[in-house]
Order: sequence, then structure tokens, then C-alpha cells
Amino acid sequence: MCILKNSLNQSHQIVSSIVEKGDLVIDATAGNGNDTVFLAGLIGKEGSVYSFDIQQSALNATQQKLMEKQLDDKVRLIHDGHQNIKNYISEPVKAVMFNLGYLPGGDHSIGTKGNTTIEAIKASMELLAVHGIISIVVYYGGDSGFDEKNEVMDFIKTIDCKKFTVMRMDFVNQINCPPILICIEKTKE
Ligand SMILES: C[S@@+](CC[C@H](N)C(=O)[O-])C[C@H]1O[C@@H](n2cnc3c(N)ncnc32)[C@H](O)[C@@H]1O
Repeated sequence: MCILKNSLNQSHQIVSSIVEKGDLVIDATAGNGNDTVFLAGLIGKEGSVYSFDIQQSALNATQQKLMEKQLDDKVRLIHDGHQNIKNYISEPVKAVMFNLGYLPGGDHSIGTKGNTTIEAIKASMELLAVHGIISIVVYYGGDSGFDEKNEVMDFIKTIDCKKFTVMRMDFVNQINCPPILICIEKTKE
């Protein structure tokens, strides 16, 4: 068993270390529902998850997974782009998870895009509670290309260091564009 887990596992480890029962959290890219189910399992009876996707098929897959685990009553599924997050939420959120790229098993041309991803990260930074975390797993290369990754990497370097700590974790000796993990912690309002 490897000690150094992949980016997705690391994102789960970090998010689970801060999310508590009763928290409000967001899955910005529902996809097949794995992160939504993970978040719904952390927030207890009183918490809630808002889960966004632009594809109805992704939300259907997510709903199915939630029902199988009897977690569907805690989750609001929203068929809209994550760049519109603030149209739905105004309270402080403890964690926002992004998994960039396309829906596994779906249409590879319908992936996340740099401009809307950055808009959504900015909106999430405003909504984030102090010591809340935004996790972003960046898939790139292959059908996803490099544009979104490059735009997001450029953007995160511009984030105000007096209010946010930004971490980038990548695997430097692996082949085939291993996903990169970015975490953003709000340190001050
Ligand atoms: C890599 S998948 C997410 C995987 C997911 N987290 C899971 O556990 O299965 C990326 C998803 O982002 C969605 N997406 C693309 N652009 C979006 C946007 N602007 N707002 C919300 N979701 C978007 C795609 O439809 C796709 O389902």
C-alpha cells in the first residue's frame, strides 16, 4: 500500500479533516457523484451539500448513487454552471470541491473550462468560511488539453496571500499528466 496517495485521495483526506456535522459544503462538479456522496457522508443530519453540474446525465448518476446510500435528503442537485454558485448560496461554506475535466464515460467535449472555473473559484473564495477549504483536482492532457490547467495555475498565483493560503501538490516523476491537487484555505475574512 502506497503512503503517498493520489490527488483525489489527498483532497478527500484534507476535506474530511475540516468538515464537521452541520456544515454547508459544495460539490462544484457533480459528475458521477463520488465527491457528492463523500461530502454527504461527512455533514450529518443537520448539514447540507449543494452539487452542481451542467449535464443532466451527471446529476441523474449522482442522484442514483445518493439514493443507494440513503443520502439523497441532504443534497440539493443544481443543473447549472458552478460559475453561478452565488445565485443559489449566500451563507458561509466550509468546503468546495472541484474535479476538473470531463465526465468519465461521458462526452469528452463537455469538460470544465478555464474562464468559468476561475469565475467559480472566485465566487467560492467569497463564500468560504474562515479556515474553510477549496480543493481542486486538475485533470489535464489528453482530451482535456492544457489550456484550463495553465489558466488556473496562472490565476492561483495572483490570489491575495494576506487572506488565503494556496497549495499546489503534484507528482513530478509520473508519466501521462497525473492530476494536480490545489487547495485554497481562507485565513482571514
Ligand atoms: C471530472 S467530472 C467530475 C467527477 C465527479 N467529481 C465525480 O466524483 O464523479 C467533471 C464534471 O464537471 C462538469 N462541468 C463542466 N463544466 C461545468 C460547469 N461550468 N459547472 C458545473 N459543472 C461543470 C461536467 O459535466 C462533468 O460532469
